[in-house]
Amino acid sequence: MPEVIEKLPYFSITPDNVSLFWKGRVALYAILKAIGIKEVILPAFTCVVAVNPIIYLGAKPVYVDVDPITYNIDVKMLERENVKTLRKAKAILAQNTFGLSADLDAISEIAKKYDLFVIEDCAHGFGGFYKGKPNGTIADVSFFSTQWNKPFSTGLGGFAVTKNPEIAERLRVMEKTFIRPSARDEMVLKTLLFVRGKLATGLYWPAVKTYRWLSKKNLILGSSQGEELESPVMPDGFEKGFSGIQSKRGRKELENFDKILEHRKKIASFYKTILSDMEIEPPYEPDYAVHTYLKFPLLIKDRMKFFKLAEKEKIELGDWFVSPIHPITKDFERWHYRWGENPVAEKVSRHIVNLPTHSQVTEDYVDRIAQFLKKNRNKIYGSYEEI
Ligand SMILES: Cc1ncc(COP(=O)(O)O)c(C=O)c1O
Repeated sequence: MPEVIEKLPYFSITPDNVSLFWKGRVALYAILKAIGIKEVILPAFTCVVAVNPIIYLGAKPVYVDVDPITYNIDVKMLERENVKTLRKAKAILAQNTFGLSADLDAISEIAKKYDLFVIEDCAHGFGGFYKGKPNGTIADVSFFSTQWNKPFSTGLGGFAVTKNPEIAERLRVMEKTFIRPSARDEMVLKTLLFVRGKLATGLYWPAVKTYRWLSKKNLILGSSQGEELESPVMPDGFEKGFSGIQSKRGRKELENFDKILEHRKKIASFYKTILSDMEIEPPYEPDYAVHTYLKFPLLIKDRMKFFKLAEKEKIELGDWFVSPIHPITKDFERWHYRWGENPVAEKVSRHIVNLPTHSQVTEDYVDRIAQFLKKNRNKIYGSYEEI
C-alpha cells in the first residue's frame, strides 16, 4: 500500500516513511511509544480511542477546548494553557476534525517554544490540505485511519507517516514486531467489509444498530472492542500489524480515492447551498485549509428527537461526536476528563449531528435530506451563537 499512497499526486512521501498497523489507534500508540511521552495535549472533542493509547503508555491526556466554528483545538486556549502544563507535555495532537486541518503553523509555533512534538491526527483528514500541503505531511509525525467510515476504507486499518528518520525507524521496528493479524482476524475483517457494503444501502439504521450492539458485545470485530469504551486498559493483542486483506483493499480504494473525495466535496457544496437558503451558517472553511468533508456537521436543538424523525424518514444521520471523548457519556475521570472544563466542546457535543457525504449519497438522496431539513428548520440552530 505505501507505493500506492506515494503515487497520489499530492502525497509526497516514500514507502520508507510509512508504517502500517491494524487500526489508526495502534498507529497513534506506536507514534507515542516512538517519541516517549508523559503528557499529551489534545482537543476536547475527539474519539476515546485516540485518548486510550496515551493512557496505555502510562501518560496523561491534557484536554484543551475547541474553537466553536472549526471544531479543532482552539489555539487561543492552547496559548492560555499554563506554562507548567506546556513544559510537562511531550506532544500536541492536532486533529483534522471531520476533515478540516487544525491551524498547524500557530500550533507549531507554540510547540517550538516548549519543545513539543506535533502529531497530526489525520483519521478524518486524508485528502485535505493545509496551506497547500497535504494533511499528514506537515507535522513531525502523523497518523491516518482506514476504518470503514473514514476517507478511504480497508475495513479496519491505520498508518503512520513521518519525515523524521529516527521516528520512522522506530515505527518500522514496531510494524515488524507487533503481532500479525490471525486467520480469524482476517476472516472477521472480510465479514466487516461485507457488512459495510450493507450499511451504505437503505438498510442503514437497522444495520448500524445491530452492528454497534454486536460490536459492544464483542460478537463481531467492530472498530472498537467493548472494553475500550469502558476503561482505558489496553486490550489483549492491541499491538497488531497490518494484514494482506487490508493492503489489497487499500490499493483498490486508493485508485478511486480522488473520485471519492470529489464526490464528498460536491455533496458538501449542495448542503452548503441548502443551508444558506435556510439561513443556517454552513461549516467554516478557513483560508488556510481545504476541507475533505468526511462529515458535514449541523447543530440541532433536541438531537434525540431529531434522530427519531430522521430514522422514520430513512434519512441517515451521524452522531460524531456526542461527547468530548466520544462515545463516552459517564465515568469521564477514567480518561482524566473533568466535566465543565471545556464549555465549547461540551455544548457542541450535545447538539451536533453529521450529514452523510459518502459515495452512496446521490443527488436524489440530497433532495430528500433537503426536504427533511426544511420541514424541520425550527429544530436546527442557525449558528453556534444561538445555542
Ligand atoms: C479523531 C480520531 N482519531 C483516531 C481514531 C482512531 O482510528 P481507528 O478507528 O482506525 O483506530 C478515530 C476513530 O474513529 C478518530 O475519530
